[in-house]
Amino acid sequence: MTHSMQNPLDQAARDVLLGNDRGGYTIPTARLYPFQWNWDSMFSAWGYSTFDIVRAWQEVELLFANQWVTGMVPHMVFHEVDPDYFPGPEVWGADQSPPTSGISQPPVAATLIRKIYEADPDTGLLHVKALYPKLVAWHDWWIRERCKDGPVAIVHPWESGRDNCPDWDIGMANVPVDDSDPYIHISRENKRRDLDLLNADQRPVATDYDRYLAILAFGRSVNWDDREMIENGPFLMADPGITFVLLRAFADLIELGRVLGEDTSGLVAQEAKLRDGLDKLWNPETGWFDAYDLRTGAFAGVLGSGAFLSYLAGVSRPALDAHFARSWDKVSYGIPSADPESERFERRRYWRGPTWPVVNSLIAMGLRDMGRKEAEARLRDETARLIEMGGFWEYYDPMDGTPCGGPSFGWTAAVWLTWCGVGRTPLTAEKET
Ligand code: GLC
Repeated sequence: MTHSMQNPLDQAARDVLLGNDRGGYTIPTARLYPFQWNWDSMFSAWGYSTFDIVRAWQEVELLFANQWVTGMVPHMVFHEVDPDYFPGPEVWGADQSPPTSGISQPPVAATLIRKIYEADPDTGLLHVKALYPKLVAWHDWWIRERCKDGPVAIVHPWESGRDNCPDWDIGMANVPVDDSDPYIHISRENKRRDLDLLNADQRPVATDYDRYLAILAFGRSVNWDDREMIENGPFLMADPGITFVLLRAFADLIELGRVLGEDTSGLVAQEAKLRDGLDKLWNPETGWFDAYDLRTGAFAGVLGSGAFLSYLAGVSRPALDAHFARSWDKVSYGIPSADPESERFERRRYWRGPTWPVVNSLIAMGLRDMGRKEAEARLRDETARLIEMGGFWEYYDPMDGTPCGGPSFGWTAAVWLTWCGVGRTPLTAEKET
């Protein structure tokens, strides 16, 4: 069978994106996530770039149209009113129109914008020109407001994109919960719509949720002022995941600047400064890049997919490579979000064990660029098999491949179209041969 044969999953993936299209932005999945999410949207755009380049740029441009004057690109944009979603705009209390959340999300934009540009440079050049200063401002915001200690620090677990991964346990344990907060009561009285839609054993637990809302209460009280969040906020942890995503994004932004003929010396200096901060993330006792709590100075002592995003930034160390091989070999499909040998590992609970195609795609991008072709091919094959077996779900049990979370998920469809499904022989054809 030839690789040029149409794979029905390609059209199915396009249909997922088109089905989640709300006119200019693409929701991650219907009902559970009904708005525009930052890094989801960037992946959707990358997915569109394989069949509708105009729509791809539209997605990116709408996200950046909601950039704050500080340079931050918010993690959610509430384009529509959905009274059933919780926590909605009133809980965030950010003074923006349309309303947005008050934090950011992993800055994959420069990296994926470069890929979308390279898919069609003629169409892309004007878009890149318009987006470039916005990207520079966003990167500048990360360095200015989140990198005071060197690596990227997050003010809320949701900022990491890996909401409830064990990395944040030590920081979350110190978040005080104010029982008089009305929103905490609303949440406890079963306003958590995620639990109506999904199995509770796949979602963050109730104590996590109280603390998520306590951080929101603080953010609201200081009008999401970054200085206040950093100096006095209830949660502040250095995140290897975002640090590596940002480091990679700097390299891609510098390349885009070069294409445009811009002076990139400022970006080069920022990138070097960020790279200098990597040693702070290295936990010599465990031999991996580790999150740490800026309030207490303690390492999380937790191995997770954030550490493996080092490959995306072209960074590796022998001890980390050994942990990568060990934890990957313990599961059957993809990179687990948490260490399968840790007692905190839960194979179906969101970011505490499951494998996420979207993270696999980023790790693979790094493996490929570093010349680790075999590892990249294995990860691609395992991720493709998850989708072939179960369809386009949010994430999967890495032991037996059971699909978990939300169905018809945008970024999973996008990584099929851009990465793991490319040139994949249709399953039916395989059977015929
Ligand atoms: C969850 C994920 C986050 C994602 C969002 C929408 O909050 O943890 O990474 O962006 O859902 O899919």
